[in-house]
Amino acid sequence: MSIAVYPGSFDPVTYGHIDMIRRASAAFDKLVVGVLTNYTKKPLFDLEERLEMLKEVTSGLSNVEITAFDGLVVDFCEKTGAGVIVRGIRSGADFDYELVMAQTNRKLNPRVDTLFLTTSPEYSFVSSSSVRELLAFHGDITAFVPDQIRLRIYNKIMEDKNER
Ligand code: PNS
Repeated sequence: MSIAVYPGSFDPVTYGHIDMIRRASAAFDKLVVGVLTNYTKKPLFDLEERLEMLKEVTSGLSNVEITAFDGLVVDFCEKTGAGVIVRGIRSGADFDYELVMAQTNRKLNPRVDTLFLTTSPEYSFVSSSSVRELLAFHGDITAFVPDQIRLRIYNKIMEDKNER
């Protein structure tokens, strides 16, 4: 059985991530989406919210599993039985960053390879950090996340405001 891991922060999940998950899940028997818990920065969405959003948008993909992980991605691969890490590349800048990470991971565990998928052109500008920035300034995130995620985000913002 071919198993791949698609790791990330997913803070929040975007159209770009969903595109990657769809395409990677078609290429492997099982795709484990690994959601990083030990963030160096404080995430905008807590772990449970990030997991829930991912589960919602991948509910139609039967061979996709959403799991939290802590620590090194190569250790997570060993735990899940994955031989491949999938990462998306939008630009040359992404490639420079990802190349170092892929080579580091390979040094740490030569049994795990990284597979790069190039982002579909319509999503090449999409990033979670842009979504967070737009939210901070009340910008429109329609082009970045599906409707159900946008509504969930707006509900959370309203709830957070009411709690204050
Ligand atoms: O969505 P992101 O923030 O681009 O994902 C980055 C991620 C989670 C893939 C990366 O930070 C990661 O793998 N972190 C776990 C620690 C690790 O294994 N680092 C790689 C060796 S430097």
